[in-house]
Amino acid sequence: MVEEQLTAVQRPFGVSMKKLTVGLGDRSYPIWIGADILARLGEALREVSFPKRIAVVSNPTVFERYGETVLDSLGNAGMNASVITIPDGESHKDLQTLETVYDALIAGGFDRGSALVALGGGVVGDLAGFAAATFLRGIPFAQVPTTLLSQVDSSVGGKTGVNHRLGKNLIGAFYQPMHVHIDVATLRSLPAREFAAGMAEVVKYGVIRDREFFDQLATSRDRLLQQEPEALVEAVKRSCQIKADVVESDEKESSLRAILNFGHTFGHAVETLSGYGEFRHGEAVAIGMVAAALASRSLGLCSREDVLEIRDLLTALQLPTTPPPFSLEAYLKAMGRDKKVKGGMLRMVLNRGIGDCAITEIPDPETLFRNVLSEWNSLL
Ligand code: NAD
Ligand code: GLY
Repeated sequence: MVEEQLTAVQRPFGVSMKKLTVGLGDRSYPIWIGADILARLGEALREVSFPKRIAVVSNPTVFERYGETVLDSLGNAGMNASVITIPDGESHKDLQTLETVYDALIAGGFDRGSALVALGGGVVGDLAGFAAATFLRGIPFAQVPTTLLSQVDSSVGGKTGVNHRLGKNLIGAFYQPMHVHIDVATLRSLPAREFAAGMAEVVKYGVIRDREFFDQLATSRDRLLQQEPEALVEAVKRSCQIKADVVESDEKESSLRAILNFGHTFGHAVETLSGYGEFRHGEAVAIGMVAAALASRSLGLCSREDVLEIRDLLTALQLPTTPPPFSLEAYLKAMGRDKKVKGGMLRMVLNRGIGDCAITEIPDPETLFRNVLSEWNSLL
């Protein structure tokens, strides 16, 4: 992963723009991160020789705010863009909506020389990415993520897909974009709860890979909450760097990439037991990260102070950090269904202190989570 700092001359908008490269051989691609850089999308796509015939996939919520800027930018770069809108919401990340995207592409005469641009959060990005991976056996696409979660997680790394009625993300492909264009100014219109949910993933990167970054987040938490552009660009950049590093080592999640699931084992159980929709995914992950930290402490991998630091940073970032009151048995059952159970053995990502982690087999989940739930009470 390569980082390039732009010189002052190239900073027309005050906050310096950062460029990263996700290094995957001939499938490498740039990530641009800045504030108010949406209007530079066309320029960025020209730099990667993106096709000129484009369908922008978006939803009405996002398109009404940012669609015009994107279409103008593409037009100014000599590109010919039309729009495919899909309904807003996770419940529409499905095969039926995907089919409407194929319908529009076929009806519009899109061919192998054309490309998709995903403008929106993780739902739009995952679905449009999968449409690009499969339409005519694959056409190029670019990600223009507009939620914090999609800027620091889903737009980078090439996981695309849709949900099946029997489970989330069961249909999909690893398919990398040609460009990721991150404008943190789009986060200004994001509901506060969505913003906080994205911050959970940002904190996750600090806990699993980078103590210094974790400390920076703690120091700059008020600037982040106020969405100060410089602070946001830095936080998003470091998050993308860490994600890119992991993806470069293990693109298809045969080993290391699983560390990105830190907080997800217990977090998925929280989501399952509460019913999808009660917690945002990032909120459930925040609770799951405290559970993982308590589990680490119980196994001697981190200290009580580490657990408190993680809990306190998440709380400061307006995230929930206490488990909803389900029984130990209910949590164990919900985690038993988690996809990270391999050969009957529960495997969890556990932090070692703050800034490092390991994928650990849990031979006796019942004892561990009994400790976790009882220790949780003593944290209050
Ligand atoms: P989302 O896409 O549903 O967006 C949340 C809400 O915010 C939506 O209503 C959306 O219309 C709205 N929105 C988006 N940008 C906005 C803006 N700038 N201003 C105002 N409103 C805006 O949710 P999400 O959290 O971005 O993504 C969740 C999805 O991401 C899930 O489907 C999850 O499975 C997927 N995901 C994928 C990966 C991956 O690696 N591919 C990783 C994590 C999550
Ligand atoms: N969000 C986890 C991953 O991309 O692997």
